[in-house]
Amino acid sequence: MVYNLPYMISIIKMGVSLLSIYLNNGATTWPKPACVPEAISSFILERGANLARGSSSGRDIDSLDMVISARQDIASFFRGYRKRDPRYVTFTGNVTESLNVVLKGFLRPGMHALTTSMEHNSVIRPLRRLEGQGVKVSVLQCDSKGFLNPEVLHSFLKENSVDLFVLSHASNVCGSIQPLEDLAAICTRAGVPCVLDSAQTAGVLEIDVEGLGLSACCFTGHKGLMGPQGIGGIVWEPGFAARVLPFVEGGTGSFSDDEHQPEILPDRFEAGTPNLPGIAGLSASLGWIVETGVEAISEREKKLGKRLLEGIRTLPGLEIFGSEMDRDRLAVFAMNLDSMDNGTAAFELSERWGIETRPGLHCSPLGHRTLGTFPGGALRVSIGFFNTEQEIDVAVEALGILAAEKAVH
Ligand SMILES: Cc1ncc(COP(=O)(O)O)c(C=O)c1O
Repeated sequence: MVYNLPYMISIIKMGVSLLSIYLNNGATTWPKPACVPEAISSFILERGANLARGSSSGRDIDSLDMVISARQDIASFFRGYRKRDPRYVTFTGNVTESLNVVLKGFLRPGMHALTTSMEHNSVIRPLRRLEGQGVKVSVLQCDSKGFLNPEVLHSFLKENSVDLFVLSHASNVCGSIQPLEDLAAICTRAGVPCVLDSAQTAGVLEIDVEGLGLSACCFTGHKGLMGPQGIGGIVWEPGFAARVLPFVEGGTGSFSDDEHQPEILPDRFEAGTPNLPGIAGLSASLGWIVETGVEAISEREKKLGKRLLEGIRTLPGLEIFGSEMDRDRLAVFAMNLDSMDNGTAAFELSERWGIETRPGLHCSPLGHRTLGTFPGGALRVSIGFFNTEQEIDVAVEALGILAAEKAVH
């Protein structure tokens, strides 16, 4: 690490240690609540049986119990259709897999899929694959701050026949939160299934799957849900789930006499041994979130986000993309420094201040095109529940120093 004088002075002033400052929570939240590694380790050490593939020993029953309770807790967390009915929660490895299961299982040649210009590649890449197989794909243009105007969706659905609408609840690039209530209501009125990518919002914003009338809510465990990597899932509307074909088939530990994939849920979409330690970890993190409160998590992140925004808004030579307001947005900020490449900025922040961020295109070329930052991308600073005000102040100070250094070159 190379330290410079202004940085050392600012650090001493603020009494902040030189430990790493993690501001890459959009990629994965860190650290996790202590109950998460504890639950993973206790599952492996004390239970560790496979799911429905044993002899009904105590360990088998305990493991099965853990998975059923986790499904019920997820159903109730997302306010699924049949309350705590565990059948309508499918586990996957991550939200990318969830979106693939839904999109590739539902869309057939001749159908028409609609999405937005702020999507992650986990939505647009499966759609482009399907397009090559005869599915029509349309992309609604969001405004330059990353928001989709509900009127745009309304007009499109009035003039076109659409079989499915899929969207990200909030942008992983600039944090803009879509007006989901309005968008989902428009879909419900038009009879179009609405599929949500909740990667950036689950655990940070309340999501009422049944109240919104969503057909499927795809989630990932390792971001706002505070769980480990490698676990995600889908909360289904039962009627919609019945119209989706599984594309992974194999052993389920059930109906073993049948050479065909079981029709019933959750077995229909879950062939192969699931990530049981991951489910144990996710179950613990969900308990932590419920106890802490989504509202409290959201308020804390918002407050820290506001502090960052106020600190950097007026820095000369620093441009912020997306909403400059502190409402309608998550604490995920995209920015660029004048004449300093965002990769260099991320490197400098990391080397000199131990601040972890993420530069580049964030797996969202569409989003960056919408914001006008393609192909160069942007520096993303994403705040999490465990960040502190002091850490935000160091980041503001560091960005100010980088901007000023560049200005004199
Ligand atoms: C909006 C959005 N969708 C999808 C993903 C993919 O998440 P995962 O890698 O957990 O599947 C991400 C991750 O950054 C995201 O932010």
